Amino acid sequence: MSTLTTVVVPDLGDAKSVDVIEILVQVNDVVMVDAPLITVETEKATMDVPCTVAGTVVALLVKKGDKVSAGAPVAHIAVSEAPSVVIAATTAPVVSTPAVAPMSQPVSVSPIVAPVAAVVSSVAASRRVVAISEVGFARAYAGPSVRLLARELGVDLGRVQGTGLKQRITHADVKAWVKRTLSEGAGAASLPAVPSVDFARFGAIDIVPLSRIQKISGRRLHAAWVNLPHVTQFDVADITALEAKRLSLKEHAGAQGIKLTVLSFVLKACALVLAKYPRFAASLDESGENLVMKKYLHLGFAADTPNGLMVPVLRDANQKNVFEIARELASLSEKGRVGKLTASEMQGGCFTVSSLGGVGGTAFTPIINAPEVAILGVSRASMQPVYQGNAFVPRLMLPLSLSYDHRVIDGAEAARFTTALAQALSDVAVLTEGIS
Ligand code: COA
Repeated sequence: MSTLTTVVVPDLGDAKSVDVIEILVQVNDVVMVDAPLITVETEKATMDVPCTVAGTVVALLVKKGDKVSAGAPVAHIAVSEAPSVVIAATTAPVVSTPAVAPMSQPVSVSPIVAPVAAVVSSVAASRRVVAISEVGFARAYAGPSVRLLARELGVDLGRVQGTGLKQRITHADVKAWVKRTLSEGAGAASLPAVPSVDFARFGAIDIVPLSRIQKISGRRLHAAWVNLPHVTQFDVADITALEAKRLSLKEHAGAQGIKLTVLSFVLKACALVLAKYPRFAASLDESGENLVMKKYLHLGFAADTPNGLMVPVLRDANQKNVFEIARELASLSEKGRVGKLTASEMQGGCFTVSSLGGVGGTAFTPIINAPEVAILGVSRASMQPVYQGNAFVPRLMLPLSLSYDHRVIDGAEAARFTTALAQALSDVAVLTEGIS
C-alpha cells in the first residue's frame, strides 16, 4: 500500500516565477528525503528543490524551461506505508550562488538517488584519492546537488567543463568526468590540480571548444608527459653537402612528381641509424620490465593539419630509398590535411620525427609518442659560422632535438645516436642510394 504525496516548490523568498534549469530525477526513481528533484535559477542564485518524503517518483509535473513559483507542484511521490528510514525533511531549498561563489560550505553526506551509490563504490574501489582544489571547487558554476554529487564521488569540480546553460556544470557532466577518469586509469586523476581561474573576471572572453583530434591527441600527449621521464638531447648536423645534392636532384625528382624536402632525407637517415640503434625503436611492455624489440621499422611523422596534430606512419622505411620516402611523405601529409588518413595509416610507428623546419625556430623539446621511446625534433636549418682548420666557414646546420625515455635510453646512448644521425646526414652518397 502507498499514498501519493505532491512535492511543491518551497518558499523562494522574494523570487517569483523562476526558471527550471535541470530535472534531476526520472519517473520510477526511488528517492529519499532531501534528495534534490529539480534545480531552479533566479537572477541571483540556483536552488535545488528537495523531496520532502521518501518514495518513488510516479509523475514529474514540471519540465526544463518551465517557470515556477512557491507552491507550484513539482512531482507526485508514491510513499510506502512502511518506510524504512525517514530522515527529517528539509523544507527550504538548498541555495548556491552562480559563477564566482565564496568558498563552498562543507557538504554533509545526504540521501541521494539510489543509482549513484553504485558509481560511488566503483569509483572508490578503483581510484586513488584525488586532490580537490577548494578554490576551484568553490568557483565552479554548479548547483548544490551537483556539488554534493561531486563531493561524494571525489570529483574536483574546478576541473569539470560545464555543458549546461552559461557553462553550468550538470549531473551528467560530473558523471561523464568520472567515466573518463576511470577509463583513463587512476594516474592522471591523482595529479594535483592546476589553479582554476575565472577569466571573465578580468575582461571579456570567448569559449572555443577543442577539435575532436585535439582532444584525442591532448590526452595522449598528457599521458606521455606524465608517464615517461623525458630528457632532450640537442645536436646539429652539417647538411651543406646534403642541401646541395637535394637542390641538384629537385628537378629530377619533380619530373617524377616528387617533392624532395629536407624531411625526406632526415627520415632516410633515421632509418639507417635506427638499424644500428634498435633500442630507440623499441617499446617497453606493459609490465615495464621488458623491451619489445621490433623486426620492422615504421616511422611516424608529425603533420600539422587543419584539424590538429596527426602522426601518419610510413611503413618499412628501412626498405625504401629517399625518393620513395619523399613520395609517401607527401601523399600521407596530403591525406592528413584533407582528413582522409585511415586508422591503420596512423598505427604501428616505432619512432617519430616532428619537423618544424618548414616553419622556423632553433630547437624544441618534443613529447615522445608513447609507447615509443624516442622522438626526433627537427628545426630550421640555417647558415652558421663553423670553425674548420684555422678559419670560420659558412655551413648549413640543421638543429636536432631528440627526446628519449630515460627508463630505456641513457644519456650517453642518446648523444651517440644524435652524433650518428648527424654523421648519416652528411653522408650524401648513402642517403641517395637506390634512386633513379
Ligand atoms: N630546414 C630548412 N628548410 C626546411 C626544413 C628544415 N629543417 N624542413 C623543411 N624545410 C623546407 C622544405 O625543404 C621546403 O622547402 P622547398 O619548398 O624549398 O623545398 C619548405 O621548408 C616547406 O617544407 P614542408 O612543406 O613543411 O615539407 P616537409 O616535408 O619539410 O614537412 C610536414 C612536411 C607534413 C611534416 C609539415 O608540413 C608539417 O606539418 N610540419 C609541422 C609538424 C608539426 O607540427 N610538428 C610539431 C608537432 S608538436
